[in-house]
Amino acid sequence: MTQVTNESAAQKQVFLADVVQGLSQPIKKLQCKYFYDERGSQLFDQICQLDEYYLTRTEQSIMDQFAGEIADQLGIGVMLVEFGSGSSTKTQVLLRHLNQPVAYVPLDISEEHLLKTAEGLRIQFPDIEILPVVADFTKGFTLPVSKKRPSHAAVFFPGSTIGNFEPDAAKSTLTLIAELLGQDGGLLIGIDLQKDPSIIHAAYNDASGVTEQFNLNLLHRVNNELGADFDIKQFEHLANYNEQLGRIEIYVVSKCNQVVTLGEHTFTFKTNERIFTEYSHKYTIEGFAKLAADSGFVLRKHWTDENQMFAVLHLVHQPIKN
Ligand code: TRP
Repeated sequence: MTQVTNESAAQKQVFLADVVQGLSQPIKKLQCKYFYDERGSQLFDQICQLDEYYLTRTEQSIMDQFAGEIADQLGIGVMLVEFGSGSSTKTQVLLRHLNQPVAYVPLDISEEHLLKTAEGLRIQFPDIEILPVVADFTKGFTLPVSKKRPSHAAVFFPGSTIGNFEPDAAKSTLTLIAELLGQDGGLLIGIDLQKDPSIIHAAYNDASGVTEQFNLNLLHRVNNELGADFDIKQFEHLANYNEQLGRIEIYVVSKCNQVVTLGEHTFTFKTNERIFTEYSHKYTIEGFAKLAADSGFVLRKHWTDENQMFAVLHLVHQPIKN
């Protein structure tokens, strides 16, 4: 009990320090990892159901349609490691199709949810060793040892989450995956493709305003958990597609000149001043293959939907030796 209290107090300290630091910058920012408290996770689930938000459902349809081919591509006797596994919904179809998989390693930062999901998977897949790992993949971790020896490991990284990293951070994440996998390891990754900007724009500016609520929920969190006094009505959601850089740029914008207090700190906002919250990069298959090549990955095969909205890529780690 004491430990839980201490841990959440420590987490709160980190949250506070991050918020103060982010809002003290010349260009204010709040980190996107703070979107997902309970309400934020619920709102994100609602986003995934929106007509405009095509990403989740399109990736799922690709996985459903090509599960057999994808499993063949991953090969026999694999240890499948999923980054940010959540409820492992996208993985189940894959686990059903894999050829003699040795182990499944769901990796997530939320321990309670992860262990619950792992229990369910053990019942559903009694022949696959389920080895959950509680970790922040951006910080690095080591692979668990399975009872049976895998022929190789493969990382499954769905959801176009890689798109939320800036190019340098995306590159270091791919390098981290490459080091974890070693020679000949596989990477199965979902990426959102570049397309008609109006389709992308709508996905982040839905008519019913759920996305706005999701974005503004960050301010609610800072109020509720840290006791700030953001007047949420005086802020609005902004998401613009930057065609040149191929990314959606998401901000919270101040509607007026105002001052926000957080403990002994005060933050001044001018009318139209922005708080940066997230980028979501959209790629071409070639563009992503090039990015991944810098980390020693070679593109083997990819699958996409009939409208080329989203793609799932299989890459293999084969660094060129000098
Ligand atoms: N990772 C999601 C994405 O890039 C997150 C997301 C969807 C999001 N809608 C949003 C983040 C709106 C901030 C605001 O698609």
